[in-house]
Amino acid sequence: MSNSDADRLPVELSHISKRFGATQALDDVSVTIRPGQVHSIVGENGAGKSTLGKIIAGVYSPDDGDLLIDGDPVRHWNPGTAQTAGIAMIAQELALVPDLTVAENVYLGAERHRLGFLKRGLNERFAALDAEVGFGLNPRALVRDLRIADQQKTEILRSLARNANVIVMDEPTSSLTAHEMGQLETLMRSLSERGCSIIYVSHFLDSVLRVSDTVTVMRDGRHIMTVPAEDVGKRDLVTAMLGRELDQAFPDRTEAPEPGDVPLLKVSNLATDTGVKDMSFEVHRGEIVGLLGLVGSGRSECLRALIGVDAITGGTVEVKGFDRTGAPPHRMISEGVFLVPEDRHKDGLVLERSVRENIALSSLAARATSGIVRTSAEIGTARELADSLEIRPLDIERPVGQFSGGNQQKALLAKALAAKPDLVILDEPTRGVDVGAKRTIYDLISRLAADGYGVLLISSEHEEIMELAHRAYLVAGGRTIDHIEPSESTMENVLFRLFHVASGEEPAA
Ligand SMILES: Nc1ncnc2c1ncn2[C@@H]1O[C@H](COP(=O)(O)OP(=O)(O)OP(=O)(O)O)[C@@H](O)[C@H]1O
Ligand SMILES: [Mg+2]
Repeated sequence: MSNSDADRLPVELSHISKRFGATQALDDVSVTIRPGQVHSIVGENGAGKSTLGKIIAGVYSPDDGDLLIDGDPVRHWNPGTAQTAGIAMIAQELALVPDLTVAENVYLGAERHRLGFLKRGLNERFAALDAEVGFGLNPRALVRDLRIADQQKTEILRSLARNANVIVMDEPTSSLTAHEMGQLETLMRSLSERGCSIIYVSHFLDSVLRVSDTVTVMRDGRHIMTVPAEDVGKRDLVTAMLGRELDQAFPDRTEAPEPGDVPLLKVSNLATDTGVKDMSFEVHRGEIVGLLGLVGSGRSECLRALIGVDAITGGTVEVKGFDRTGAPPHRMISEGVFLVPEDRHKDGLVLERSVRENIALSSLAARATSGIVRTSAEIGTARELADSLEIRPLDIERPVGQFSGGNQQKALLAKALAAKPDLVILDEPTRGVDVGAKRTIYDLISRLAADGYGVLLISSEHEEIMELAHRAYLVAGGRTIDHIEPSESTMENVLFRLFHVASGEEPAA
């Protein structure tokens, strides 16, 4: 790297402020991004991380302050000019075209050719790019058919195809497995060695500390500190993010309920065409039950089938002792089974509608018998739920799309609880949620169980299940292979078994 290169400053934010209505999203923030560095931005939900990234990428323009690219203040900054200047962003909320293939999405708009022309050699060029990073994506697959982790990988390839020299990655790892996260970290390091600057927004502080050169902490729209990663530990970051010390990551495990009576949910030998081969498990009142498995083990597919979204080809689903195999989703809701989905945008929330309206949409089913929707009661419920989940800002009339990612996740939980279910199924409930808010959600899960709800928990952060669940089933290759009491097992044991079954070294049945 030449001297002038080392002196170059790809991105400088100088006294940047940005306001949305009454919310001061960024307040006099100054940060310098150096060439060839991985620079992480951490902070609680709503701290302003995504807003900062979007200003760099030309999505928003600041109200005040200057953005300098390679030393020059920008004018007419928008996503197009930002891209021309070599800046790419992998947004927190993915922006792919569902009806195009993976390869088409990767190269779409990257070159000024018509897609028809571009198609020749597309898959070959894609293969070369993909091989470089080792994702192993199928270029011909339609994006609509991909699971979220693969959509995220597609977004990453998209920015690489643009030869960007600054890449903003806004929570790119939120649904990747530990292995995939490792791959991405290796990729970030190799990009930075080539001189590319990476702005990495993540709630995974271990990953942040492994991969970063520099870390910036934000709180309430303000810049708190920028430090070399080697000078700080996780605790320092958490304290700076929260402005106080976090007592403990997990609440005490609630007492397991007395076994005996009819289970809330009993799934026996479930099979589907989507990859579920033979899954059996039950959940009782007052119980938190986890499904432990690697991505692709069939957990989400199992949930989709049991709530009636996908067809069941074998086995049975019983709710409170009655056979409900194949009942459609609205029926399962009225039977008291409510799924909080993994993909909050596709399956969960109407972004243009307010928190109150989103909550009302789900409780409509619960109230259908009364025939009328009482708005004042609705407001009361919504406010209570939003308050107990610490949704910030606490404004239930604000459209969901205007909340930060983590607060949208809380809105989704509020929506589930408003339906007054007996059994809450949580698929990745803390995805994109910060350490403080995670604790809020863990407390809520414990409280649900203590109040007699059944909770079925799916999480790629296995620690969550190990710390919260009374019982957990190990899932691999579409089958439940064993069940354990997390309090009497270790994460090492569990992961060891899951990896061995996944790699075929232990028989699945
Ligand atoms: N388009 C918008 N309209 C109104 N308010 C917004 C908009 N975008 C962001 N905000 C508000 O600005 C603040 C900062 O949001 P931002 O999305 O930058 O947070 P974040 O740090 O990325 O949080 P998270 O970790 O939850 O993703 C929040 O209070 C949010 O509600
Ligand atoms: Mg964000």
